[in-house]
Amino acid sequence: MESRALHLLLGMLRAGLVVEEREGRVELTESFKMALRYRDLIEAKLDFAELVAGDFVGKFTTLLAQPGRFFEQARIFDLFSYDRCFDSTPENLAMTRRWMRFTTTLTKYEAQACIDHHDFTTCRRLLDVGGNSGEFALRICRANPRVRATILDLPLVCGIGQEHVRGEPEAVRIDFVSAGAAPADFPKGFDTICFKSMLHDWPDGDMVEFLERAYQSLDSGGRLLIFERGMVEIGASQMPYSLIPIMLFFRSYRSPEDYAWHLDRIGFRDIKIQVIELEMPFYLITAVK
Ligand SMILES: C[S@@+](CC[C@H](N)C(=O)[O-])C[C@H]1O[C@@H](n2cnc3c(N)ncnc32)[C@H](O)[C@@H]1O
Repeated sequence: MESRALHLLLGMLRAGLVVEEREGRVELTESFKMALRYRDLIEAKLDFAELVAGDFVGKFTTLLAQPGRFFEQARIFDLFSYDRCFDSTPENLAMTRRWMRFTTTLTKYEAQACIDHHDFTTCRRLLDVGGNSGEFALRICRANPRVRATILDLPLVCGIGQEHVRGEPEAVRIDFVSAGAAPADFPKGFDTICFKSMLHDWPDGDMVEFLERAYQSLDSGGRLLIFERGMVEIGASQMPYSLIPIMLFFRSYRSPEDYAWHLDRIGFRDIKIQVIELEMPFYLITAVK
């Protein structure tokens, strides 16, 4: 790199509090060294944002004014194409692995916040609907040695999930069950059923159907957990670059009261809502059958 380029780069890194100069040496700052412990999360967020930044930069008016057209044109919906999660072709597997890296890395960190806010000590059999790579279940099983978990997800996702947990001591307590494309009956025998960052993918009719199936499948006295991002709100400061992928889904997120209303109508009781502040507000909604 020629010296003017290096000068520009170091200036940017300094302004971003990544490096500082001490006694003529350029070094990482202490705060960036701390952030670097979460390198996998930083890299996943950067790669995810970079993949779909074009949807924001090039198609923002379409996003705001023509949601149907945006859905057809945007890269983000191509990335998350669940219809590619059935046929095991090398291309489908590569596509599925690509978006699962993002969901898995975000979940690794988000799971901890959920575990800190919900007592899983009485849980024995947990069903995670749309449980993806099993990362959420893995974290819960690790923190709670008496939990056994089942992941219900699309066939290729389950296969990649099995690879993901294989080698972990908790793998013997985690199994995977393949789901069809539409909501269908869940397996039975669970005292806890979770939907983590899953229901926002679905229009109201399907979301209610998933909740009704969960009610039918849950043991009496069993607990339902919904852990979801809240609605996208812009406060006093601008949204960070890393939230571009989330912002593109802004129409999908519901208020926790919306979920609570449906849970009550279905017959759930003792409905509680907790707000968990991560890079944006998340909601943990729990209810008892
Ligand atoms: C947005 S991702 C969330 C994944 C994960 N729970 C998380 O928090 O990162 C939605 C998940 O639902 C799964 N899914 C899609 N259709 C499904 C269906 N009919 N039944 C079960 N899971 C489904 C997807 O494969 C994906 O893993």
